[in-house]
Amino acid sequence: MSWIDVGAASNLAEEVPFAADLQGRAVLVVRCGAEVHAVDDLCTHDGQPLEDATVEACQIVCPRHGARFCLRTGEALTPPAYEPLATYAVRIEAGRVLVNAPD
Ligand code: FES
Repeated sequence: MSWIDVGAASNLAEEVPFAADLQGRAVLVVRCGAEVHAVDDLCTHDGQPLEDATVEACQIVCPRHGARFCLRTGEALTPPAYEPLATYAVRIEAGRVLVNAPD
């Protein structure tokens, strides 16, 4: 695994998904409070991009059919999604957002 710089930490607004490219994979980085999480930018129900999704209480809500996912674990919390989102470790270093890319 390797840490990929996906942008400035100043790009992260509270509960607003930030779209990033993780070595060709579309991911979203989301700050909720003191936490920062990264998940795949693709709903597991029917492939809807989640870039325009709303975020509430560290959960991301698919704009298409309303499935909710936990940003901490990726777990699908409500139908019609049942499969989790992939999650990636994130760290902030020297004002940059680093996401851990799988090999
Ligand atoms: S595509 Fe996301 S809930 Fe259906």
